[in-house]
Amino acid sequence: MFNKVLTKINGFLAKDLGIDLGTANVVIYEKGSGIKLNQPSTVALLNNGGSSVPYLFGDVAKSMIGRSPANIKIVRPMKDGAIADFYVVEEMIRYFVSEVMGGWKLTRPNLVICVPYDSTITERIALQEAALKAGAKDVFLVFEPIVAAIGANLPIGDHSGSMVIDIGGGTSEIAVISLSGIVTGKSLKIAGDKFTDAIIKYVKTKFNLLIGLSTAEMTKEKIGSAYVSKNEPERSITITGRDIATGIPKSIEIREEDITIAISDLIVELVRAVKDVLDSVPPELSSDIHERGIILTGGSSQIRNLDKVLSDIIDCPVFLAQTPLLCVAKGLGKILDNFNLYSNVLFKQF
Ligand SMILES: Nc1ncnc2c1ncn2[C@@H]1O[C@H](COP(=O)(O)OP(=O)(O)OP(=O)(O)O)[C@@H](O)[C@H]1O
Ligand SMILES: [Mg+2]
Repeated sequence: MFNKVLTKINGFLAKDLGIDLGTANVVIYEKGSGIKLNQPSTVALLNNGGSSVPYLFGDVAKSMIGRSPANIKIVRPMKDGAIADFYVVEEMIRYFVSEVMGGWKLTRPNLVICVPYDSTITERIALQEAALKAGAKDVFLVFEPIVAAIGANLPIGDHSGSMVIDIGGGTSEIAVISLSGIVTGKSLKIAGDKFTDAIIKYVKTKFNLLIGLSTAEMTKEKIGSAYVSKNEPERSITITGRDIATGIPKSIEIREEDITIAISDLIVELVRAVKDVLDSVPPELSSDIHERGIILTGGSSQIRNLDKVLSDIIDCPVFLAQTPLLCVAKGLGKILDNFNLYSNVLFKQF
C-alpha cells in the first residue's frame, strides 16, 4: 500500500530534465521551467593516498585548472562527446541533477540526454547506464544535431531538407535532416578543444612562450577568427605565459590574424567535411538547403567569420543561430515542452 502511494507521489512530483552533456559544458533544461544549469563539464578529483574521488564540479573545478596542488586532478570526463570516465560522469550527472532538483531525494527525474550522431552503441548504452546509476527514473537519448536543429527553430519534421552544423568543444556534427531523421551527416573530432590546442602550439612556436589551457581558451573566445576582414577593426590582446628560453613570465601581444593562422588547417578540414556532406545530399534536398541556408550552432560556431568562410567556399548561405551555446538545451526544452510533437526523435539503446 505504502509503496503504491509512494509510486503515485513520485510520478506526480517527477521532473523531466533535458541534459546537454557536452565535452565542454553541461546545460540542463527543466520541463515547463527553462534552463536551470549551465556549467563546465569539469570535475576536480581528490586523491588522499588511495583512489581519486570526485569532489568539486563545474565552475569551481574549472577555476582550479593550472592552479591545483598535486593531490587534486582536474579532469573533463567527457571526451569527443562520449564518456571517457564512466564513474566520474555518473558522479557529475548525480551532482548537477541534484543541483537542479534541490537535492530532494524523494523524486527521481526522467532524463533526455543527447548523444553524437556517430556515437557507438556501446557509448550510448554506457551513457544510459551512467544516468540510471546516477539516479534517473528513466533515460531517453536523442541525436545532438537533431536537437540543435530543433533549438534553432528548423522545421525538422518537414519533408524539405534542413542542414545544421553544431560545432562544440569535442565534436562538430554536420547533419542534413528531413522528416525528423538524419538523411546524411558526419561527426568530426575537430572542434573547440582542437582550436585551443592549436593556439597553444602556435604561441609556443612563434613566440617561444608556454601558455596554459585557460589562457588559450580565453584568447580563442576573445579574438578567435577564421578570416580577418579588412572591413572590421582587427582585435588583439595581451597574454602572459612562461618564456621557454628564460623560464620567467613574459607578456606578448597576440593579434586576431595569429589565431586565424593557428587554426587554419582545422578550418580547412571542417570545410572539407561540410563539402563532403553536401556532395552526398540527394538532389531533392540539396535545393532546399541552398534556398534555406545552413545553420551553425554550438559554442565554437562563434569563431568570427566562420559563417562567412563556409558560405564563400561552399557557395551556400550560412547563418549563425541565436545563442549558439544554448541551442541544444533549448531544443531539449522544446522536446520536453511539446512531447507529442517531438517524441518520435527519442530512442533508447538496448
Ligand atoms: N566566443 C567564442 N568564440 C569561439 N569559441 C567559443 C566561444 N565561446 C565558446 N567557445 C567554445 O565553444 C566550446 C563549447 O561549446 P559547446 O558548449 O557547444 O560544446 P559542448 O556541447 O560542451 O561540446 P560537444 O558538443 O562537442 O560535446 C568551447 O570549446 C569554447 O571554448
Ligand atoms: Mg554540444
